[in-house]
Amino acid sequence: MNTQPLLTPYHKNITLKNRIVMAPMTRSRADNKEKVATDDLQGLYYEQRASAGLIITEGSQVSKEAVGYINTPGIHSKAQVEGWKTVTKRVHDKGGTIFIQLWHVGRISHPDFHDGALPVSASAINPNAQSFTPNGFKETVTPKAMTLGDIKRTINDFKNAAANAVEAGFDGIELHSSNGYLFQQFFNGCSNTRTDAYGGSIENRARFFFEVLDAMKTVIPQEKIGVRFNPSLHGLFGITVDEDTIPTFEYIIKKLNAYNLAYVHLSEPFTDVSEVPFAVTDIAKHFRPLYNGTLMINTNFDQEKGNKVLANGDADLVAYGKPFVSNPDLVERFEKHLALAEWDKDTFYTPGKKGYTDYPFASE
Ligand SMILES: Cc1cc2nc3c(=O)[nH]c(=O)nc-3n(C[C@H](O)[C@H](O)[C@H](O)COP(=O)(O)O)c2cc1C
Repeated sequence: MNTQPLLTPYHKNITLKNRIVMAPMTRSRADNKEKVATDDLQGLYYEQRASAGLIITEGSQVSKEAVGYINTPGIHSKAQVEGWKTVTKRVHDKGGTIFIQLWHVGRISHPDFHDGALPVSASAINPNAQSFTPNGFKETVTPKAMTLGDIKRTINDFKNAAANAVEAGFDGIELHSSNGYLFQQFFNGCSNTRTDAYGGSIENRARFFFEVLDAMKTVIPQEKIGVRFNPSLHGLFGITVDEDTIPTFEYIIKKLNAYNLAYVHLSEPFTDVSEVPFAVTDIAKHFRPLYNGTLMINTNFDQEKGNKVLANGDADLVAYGKPFVSNPDLVERFEKHLALAEWDKDTFYTPGKKGYTDYPFASE
């Protein structure tokens, strides 16, 4: 009998055959005019990884305005819904479970994506980051601060995208409220200097997130909604930690106890934050006591660390990103203690099958 915690089934709001989750990863393979996921690329890629307890797809833009990277798939048009149907069918036929990550990049975009118009954000503050445009990497610009009308429209875009996800056959959705994109631009003081109901206090900076969540749960049961946070993100995507940052995430995560979500997905810090004032270095340990529901943890986990974090009770599920790029059969490799294949970062975002659907299974 296999006693690895990672390989045990999970049952709470979601039922999963194991606790190994494929983390959301942008792969920029929707290289077509409509930004549609296709059977031969995304269909095959996700089917190959269907032994994961849960697949979370790459970030998928909820509107044309939400995009900030080349060739990322959308979930706002009819054609996109039809494309995703082939993906969900392939995964389901293999006994897999798949959520789609709903994405709005906010200011991590570029006018090249918007016929020259400015990207939008909480406030008009340039993240001084880069956007991956059709014309190569470009410096970001100062975005337009969202009006109340923009906020309303965007809430509706997320609601529509959630309804589209249901129609496309997804088992659930993950709100990409992480990694310096639109929601985190509202959460953090460095990117939100608003003086209206969406800025200032912690409660106000979290308002947009909860309004989106409340709108989405009118079209999909909240047991099928996951949310993602990266509380100690610092020095990336124009985000810095200040004295309000961790209290903001504590407020949000505690408030989520009143919901009945599929899970809260947290990232350990992407960079070394041991010297960063106010940052938390051990995210799972810090937030586990604050949240009663399903907690998923990610970033830099290997098999041993994953089993340990579950055994310690600091998380319920572990999401693996890069290991799933190069090991479609990651679950089997963990089961049999097989060596893992290395990923090639040069093909993370390149077009076509190379570095995407051509990583072999250990059995091959
Ligand atoms: C190629 C690549 C693309 C990514 N795209 C996304 C994304 O679309 N959405 C997201 O939330 N995180 C994204 N991430 C972050 C991963 O989900 C994950 O947090 C990160 O890879 C750390 O986990 P790991 O150490 O297991 O790889 C991406 C990471 C990589 C390597």
